[in-house]
Formats: sequence, structure tokens, C-alpha cells
Amino acid sequence: MLKKDKRLLVGFEHADDAGVYKLSDEIALVQTLDFFTPIVDDPRTFGMIAAANALSDVYAMGAKPITALNIVAFPQDTLPKAIIGDILAGGLEKVHEAGALLLGGHTIDDTELKFGMAVTGIVHPNEVLTNSGARPGDLLVLTKPIGTGIINTAGKGGLAKPEHLEAAAATMTALNKTAAEAALSHGAHAMTDVTGFGLTGHLSEMLVASGVGAELDVHSVPLLDGTRDYAAMGLVPAGTRRNLEFCKCRFVDAKQVSPVDMDILNDAQTSGGLLVALTPDDAHALARDLQEAGETGAIVGRIIAEPKRKIVFKA
Ligand code: CO
Ligand code: CO
Repeated sequence: MLKKDKRLLVGFEHADDAGVYKLSDEIALVQTLDFFTPIVDDPRTFGMIAAANALSDVYAMGAKPITALNIVAFPQDTLPKAIIGDILAGGLEKVHEAGALLLGGHTIDDTELKFGMAVTGIVHPNEVLTNSGARPGDLLVLTKPIGTGIINTAGKGGLAKPEHLEAAAATMTALNKTAAEAALSHGAHAMTDVTGFGLTGHLSEMLVASGVGAELDVHSVPLLDGTRDYAAMGLVPAGTRRNLEFCKCRFVDAKQVSPVDMDILNDAQTSGGLLVALTPDDAHALARDLQEAGETGAIVGRIIAEPKRKIVFKA
């Protein structure tokens, strides 16, 4: 049980991206951590992805990252030391790009390599952006294409084209900084990032927290090239299928969605984009700004009053 304390602005009751603790009337701390096993072969790229992914949960709260700590599990007897140096260098590069500082970290010996970060950010206590503010009539904007889980699975099987793996790595290493700043400037009502639970899972969390429903325009969801082909070949991670089992009780009109599209919509993402709910005018302006900045900004659905906590598929 969480201790009740008025300084705790966001705990884990609504599956938000990070915890928020009020230090004063002007400043609140935002804290999160994430780490995982390698999802790409190149150590530096893995470091960049893990850092971008950990930083993302601070951006998703409308906050600015200020400090980070490395979390490392490393098989000292079986892997060359240079590998960890490359991973850390990739992570540091992303921390600096975020305008934050790396303060240190901790390494343990482990049979399986793992890397991630604990990240701290700051935000004005009145400007915390949770997943509970979505209102009927809002449109939903997604800021990165979907498909990293499926493409990485194809990559592990040696079946992905190099250009598809490169594009997936480029989106996973990209910070959600620009998208978060643009979402804030357009008055976002609710925001979260799309990671392990997939688009449907993180949208579900927003709907539950906000007490609303959503229509999801299946064919408006931006995809990484190759995603549909690999999904049709059955190259779908176990986490994606678990997401489908977990989320399907929230689905309305799911029969019109093909099994391949369903796998894509539930695909477990790593370092995915932001999902933002905001008024139609603001949503169109945000999508346009992101596209002009060379980023993804796609309107993928809308918030509705009823049915509450359900995703209505529009094929
Ligand atoms: Co998150
Ligand atoms: Co996380």
C-alpha cells in the first residue's frame, strides 16, 4: 500500500509513466527507471535505445530530465569489457542530448547483459501531465510509428531487411523531447508513452485513468516499413500476444480488425512514441508541427464519453 502523503502527486495507482513528488509550490521531482536485455546487436545503439526509453517516461509526464544513473548487469567472464564501454557511451550521448547529467550508476556481474537508467526530472506541480486528463471530443496523436517489437523479432530470426532494422533503431534511439515540448505547448490534456503494453495497452491505461472511451482508426496508425509483412509471417514477440490477451476485454468491434492488424496494434514497443490527447484544433496543430520538424505526428483516434474504458475499432 502506498502511504498517503500530499507531497505524492502521482504514485502507481493509475499506471502512470513515472512517480511525481512535490518538493515545493514551484517544483516537483519526477522519477522513473527502466532496464532490459539487448534488443539490437550493436552495443552503442543498445545504450542509446535504453537511455531514450528511460528518459521517455520523464517526458511523458510533461517534465524535463535533469539527472540519470546507469543500471548495468554484465557477464564479466564471457563478454569483452569494450562492449560495456560502448553501451555506456551510447547512453551518455542520449543523456546529454536530453540536456541532463549522468551522475553515476552501479554494475553487477550477471549471466545476462542488461542496461538501463534511473532518470530524475523536474516539473511545475501544476503542470504534471498524467494519463488521466483525456476528455470526450479530444483527438489522439501518436508521435512515432509502431512496429519495433515485430521488426526486432524478425531481426532476431535473421529475417529482417537491414534497412528495416536501421529504421527501427532510428526510431528507438530518438528522444521524445521535441514531441513532448510540442504537446505541452499545444495544451495536451493527457499523455503517455507507448512501450511494452503496445498502443492498445497504453491507450487502455489512459481510458481507465480518464474514465472515457476511444475510437481507434486502425489504418491511421503509422507503421515502420516491413511491420505488416513480418507480422503476416508470424514474426510476433510473445509480449505482443500477451498484450492482446490482456487488452481484448476492452475491445469493441474487434472482429473487423484482421489478425495481422491486431498483432500490430498490440505490438510491444521499445522506446515508442508519445500518445497525446488534446482538443481537435490543438491535435491538428501538434501533428502539423511534428511533421514540419521531420517527426511523426499522426491522428490515430478520438476520445468518446461512452463506452467507458473501451477501445472501439474503426477499420
Ligand atoms: Co511509460
Ligand atoms: Co517504463
